[in-house]
Amino acid sequence: MTKKIARIAVLVSGGGTNLQALIDAEKRGVIKNGEIVLVVSSNSQAFAVERAKREGIPFSIISKKDCGGQEIFEKKLISEIEKNNIDIIVLAGFMCILSPEFTRRFEKRIINVHPSLIPSFCGKGFYGLKVHEAALKKGVKVTGATVHFVNEIPDGGEIIMQKAVNVREKDTPEKLQKRVMRLAEWKILPAAVEKVCSEIIADKEKQS
Ligand code: GAR
Repeated sequence: MTKKIARIAVLVSGGGTNLQALIDAEKRGVIKNGEIVLVVSSNSQAFAVERAKREGIPFSIISKKDCGGQEIFEKKLISEIEKNNIDIIVLAGFMCILSPEFTRRFEKRIINVHPSLIPSFCGKGFYGLKVHEAALKKGVKVTGATVHFVNEIPDGGEIIMQKAVNVREKDTPEKLQKRVMRLAEWKILPAAVEKVCSEIIADKEKQS
């Protein structure tokens, strides 16, 4: 009997270093219960698209602006996800908020990586470099990253994994962002994806 594998879609908007961490983790066998079968970018210029091309992963570009609004944007996303029989949707630097209708449709099937220790520096308006700017402004000595399920509350879903990273005296937002990525995001995102994939596969096996 061939082993079941969870089909992963990765949604991106920017550089795609988290996408790369997932690709590398799959190659190294850290992700063994899942396979990245689709990359969707909300931005045609995102370097993440180059990474998908380089790896031969099917990709599509769905821009909210070109769709003229949230409803058509989400309709197109849903169509790509369902056409490709996706089991798990990974938001890896995906800079678009999803509606409650969308998140409810894929309950416990969407996960996100956020560059802080939730519940600090999260929610509406906290994304990318802004998160690290806010952490430095507050003067926290420890920050980190969180992987969580996505529900209707921005950054409010159940936490799957977190990892702390020390703030250094001479940190700039850029330096801190890079260290949080390297020491936390690129480690816990693949680990969390493997955890959720293995649970999905265990469920499927119970049902078959
Ligand atoms: C990452 O730091 C990710 O955690 C953050 O954007 C960056 C994307 O980098 N996401 C958010 O802020 C979402 N709220 P990448 O494109 O190189 O993976």
